[in-house]
Amino acid sequence: MSEQQLNHIAIIMDGNGRWATMRGRPRVWGHIRGSSKVASIVEEADRLGIKALTLYAFSSENWSRPFSEVRVLFALLKKFICHERERIIRNKIRFKIIGDISELPQGTQDLIHDLEQVTAHHQGLKLTFAFGYGGRAELVHAVNQFITHNPGQKISEKDLNNCLYCPDLGDVDLLIRTGGDCRVSNFLLWQLAYAELYFTETKWPDFSVSEFARIVDFVTRRERRFGTIGEVSDLNEAQKLAEKNRVNINQQLGMH
Ligand code: IPE
Ligand code: IPE
Ligand code: MG
Repeated sequence: MSEQQLNHIAIIMDGNGRWATMRGRPRVWGHIRGSSKVASIVEEADRLGIKALTLYAFSSENWSRPFSEVRVLFALLKKFICHERERIIRNKIRFKIIGDISELPQGTQDLIHDLEQVTAHHQGLKLTFAFGYGGRAELVHAVNQFITHNPGQKISEKDLNNCLYCPDLGDVDLLIRTGGDCRVSNFLLWQLAYAELYFTETKWPDFSVSEFARIVDFVTRRERRFGTIGEVSDLNEAQKLAEKNRVNINQQLGMH
């Protein structure tokens, strides 16, 4: 069985609150410790040759949390951008945020847009934060975009993909969720169609570069079949093969 390159890895960075509570600390302490882990995972993803890393930092549902917690999460995003800006630029990383950031403080929005612009042409790791993000909202956005530009037309899978917040990220090859829960919590619903899923008990503040590298190595060896009984390299190839076979099978059945 051949090993395969994982192009796009997505991570649900979960378990901060429980990590802190278990230590008798306020939940925000977990967010602070958790956010200090992000840079090392980004660096390792880059070192491993991953093309895109998408990190779930704040969901549209997380707005339901107390303001005191939400405010800390905003501040930590700002701190990350300020701290990592130079390193991101130096390493030719392309930085982007997907989601609705319109309610973030103006200063943070300006920092985000500036870094997005400065790194827009970078060819290195595509580092994307999902912030104020919801997978269903992204799909509704995509369909509305399409309707606006193509009134009265039917939408195809390719069209929908092209109208996502960031089409060039492509399908997710591997989704990792820390914190022990086995669910996707409204993350990248479209892009996860054939992703490998890996759930670890480790809470995000304890997640290490070595565990990340072990998971990547483990999943790289998994066989992905995309519905076929042989080996295909991606969903696109599997869908083309399926369509060709469908026509053949229907001919043999005398359907067409
Ligand atoms: C993940 O940690 C970070 C965000 C959702 C912002 P949680 O805050 O959800 O931590 P737990 O799951 O309650 O432990
Ligand atoms: C998912 O974690 C969102 C992020 C990690 C940003 P949650 O803690 O919000 O998800 P649920 O509530 O366990 O589904
Ligand atoms: Mg959680």
